[in-house]
Amino acid sequence: MPDQPRLELHDLVRSYAGRRVVDGVSLSIAPGQVTGLLGPSGCGKSTTLRMIAGVETPEGGRIVIDGREVAGAGANLPPEQRSVGLMFQDFALFPHLSVSENVAFGLKGRGMGRAAQRDRVMDLLDRVRLARHAAAYPHELSGGEQQRVALARALAPHPRIMLMDEPFSGLDNRLRDGIRDETLAILKEEGTAVLLVTHEPEEAMRMADEIALMRRGRIVQQGAPYNIYNAPADRAAAAFFSDVNVIRARVKGALTDTAFGRFLAPGHPDGAEIEIVIRPQHLRIDFDREGGPRPTAQDGTPARARVERARFIGKESLVEFRLDHDGSRMIATVPSVFLPAAGTVFWLTVRRDRCHVFPAGA
Ligand SMILES: Nc1ncnc2c1ncn2[C@@H]1O[C@H](COP(=O)(O)OP(=O)(O)O)[C@@H](O)[C@H]1O
Ligand SMILES: [Mg+2]
Repeated sequence: MPDQPRLELHDLVRSYAGRRVVDGVSLSIAPGQVTGLLGPSGCGKSTTLRMIAGVETPEGGRIVIDGREVAGAGANLPPEQRSVGLMFQDFALFPHLSVSENVAFGLKGRGMGRAAQRDRVMDLLDRVRLARHAAAYPHELSGGEQQRVALARALAPHPRIMLMDEPFSGLDNRLRDGIRDETLAILKEEGTAVLLVTHEPEEAMRMADEIALMRRGRIVQQGAPYNIYNAPADRAAAAFFSDVNVIRARVKGALTDTAFGRFLAPGHPDGAEIEIVIRPQHLRIDFDREGGPRPTAQDGTPARARVERARFIGKESLVEFRLDHDGSRMIATVPSVFLPAAGTVFWLTVRRDRCHVFPAGA
C-alpha cells in the first residue's frame, strides 16, 4: 500500500476584498518529499501556506495532515496543534537568547524533560554543524549560520511538515546555493515533508522532488521538475522557466507550414491558430555552407537567418537572429566560446521533439 500523504489540500479557496486569490487549490505531499510551490509574485502562494499553518482560515476546501482534517467544514485546529514547522525569509531569531536557547524555544510546552530537551537540541546543532556555537548569540553568527539555527529551531519538535516561504531570498547570492544544498540535506536526513514556496524556477528545480506550478490562484501543473520543464502544460508554463521562441502558424489537415518546414499539430482543428514554443537552447545552429544541412524528419527544414546581435553572458552566449523567411526574431543560446558577429548568416533547425504546440492565445 502506498504511504498515506503527509499533507493533502482539497479545493482550498480564499478571497480578499471579493477577489479569489486562492481559487481551488488541491495538492498532495508524500512523507519525505520536497514539493516546490512555484509561481509569480501575487499568485497566492503565501496565502496557501498561511492556511496550512493555520494563521489564515480557508473559506472553502479542506486541509488534511496525516489523515486528520485540520481545517474544513468540521474542523479548525489552531497552529500549535497542526504539527507544522515554519520558516520565512525574515526568520527572526531571538537576539537575547543563545543559539541553544533559540533551538530549545521550539520545544517549549511539550512536556519534555530537561535532559531529553538538551539531547534533542544538541543533536540538531550537530546536524546543522553549529554545536560549537551553542552558547553564542545570533549577532555573533553569519547570515548562513543564523539560517541554520532557524532551521534547527523549526525542526526541533519533529514537525510532520515543514512550510518554507521564500526562506533563501534574503541571502547573499553567492551564499545561497551552498545554503540551499545544506538545508536540503538536513531536511532529507530528518525525513520531513516540505512545502517550499518560491518564485524562482531554479530554486524549485534545485530543491524539489516535485513542483506545483501556480498561477492566479490555481495549480496549473504538477510533476517532477524534469517533466514540468520538458512537457509544459501551456505557453506560460514554458515561459516561466526560460525565454522562449514562439512561432505562430495556422493548421491545415493536422499539419502546419513554417520557416522550419512542416510541424504536426495533432488534435488542432483545421484553420486554428497555433503557437509552436521552442526554448533558446533547442535551436540548432549550422554555418552557412553548401546551403545548410539537409532536411530530416527529426529536425525539419533549416531556415536561413542572420545574426542581429550576440551577447556574452558567462557560461553561454545569447544570439538574436532574424529569419530570412519572414523577418521574425529568434533567440538561441550557444556555448560562450562562440560569439558570432552581427550580420553573419547561419542555418537554424528545430528538433521536433523539443517543440511544444499549443493553441494560440491560450
Ligand atoms: N491580508 C491580505 N489582505 C488583502 N490582500 C491580501 C492579503 N494577503 C494577500 N493579499 C493579496 O492576495 C494576493 C496573493 O498574495 P500572496 O498569497 O501573498 O501571493 P504570493 O505569495 O504568491 O506572492 C496578492 O494580490 C496580495 O496582494
Ligand atoms: Mg509570498
